[in-house]
Amino acid sequence: MRQDEQLEIKTFFQEEKPEYILEQMKPFKQLMMQYECALKEVETKLNVLNAEFSLEYDRNPFESIKTRIKQPMSIWGKLRRNGEELTVENIENCLSDVAGIRVICSFPEDIYTIAELLSKQDDISVLRRKDYIKHPKENGYRSLHLILEIPIFLSEEKKYMKVEVQFRTIAMDFWASVEHKLKYKKNIKEPEKIAEQLKHCAETIADVDFRMQAIRHEIDRDAEQEEDDEV
Ligand code: GTP
Ligand code: MG
Repeated sequence: MRQDEQLEIKTFFQEEKPEYILEQMKPFKQLMMQYECALKEVETKLNVLNAEFSLEYDRNPFESIKTRIKQPMSIWGKLRRNGEELTVENIENCLSDVAGIRVICSFPEDIYTIAELLSKQDDISVLRRKDYIKHPKENGYRSLHLILEIPIFLSEEKKYMKVEVQFRTIAMDFWASVEHKLKYKKNIKEPEKIAEQLKHCAETIADVDFRMQAIRHEIDRDAEQEEDDEV
């Protein structure tokens, strides 16, 4: 969060009437609880696919799954940047990344397999799909992003919630986390040169991902051949 934003939040909480903040709090907490539930739903679906996949192919497609709910300050900052007021309705209607899941896979093809299996489940709708693996961002960023809509079952209603899922390989995740940290460093002397080097690293990483995948295919083929020979 930028310093000017932090300052504005402080002012907001100092200037707003406490009654207003309290009034807003319960619906805000309820909404965050609902996002938590939606996250759990999607996480369970992913774990089911992982379990089935490991039994069938004798390996786990995921390295790890991380879930997170966007921090209140980041929610506020993003609405503000979009010129929207901080209301519970706006959080739901204007933001699609309050609930986020990051799925880290070993190989690029597992990303597509799992993403397709998840997308075609009949209680899930895909609102948006951005394939930054086939079409990397200008800076070299690679990942597959899905905005999903999934129902949660509350005592009085069935409610559809948005969840952002980011699929990456271990290597893409390494690149993205380093690039994210560097983005916020100040006083970089030659930013263009750094950007160029980062882009080059992203390309090398993508190349390694596909070569590792090819190696795995080769090993799988050899193993299958051996099984056939034994019969
Ligand atoms: P945001 O407002 O940042 O959420 O972007 P967006 O609504 O245009 O969505 P997009 O799918 O492009 O990016 C969503 C998320 O992907 C970001 O919040 C980051 O977590 C990640 N991401 C996207 N671009 C980059 C990038 O260039 N570098 C890194 N490190 N992460 C990125
Ligand atoms: Mg985001």
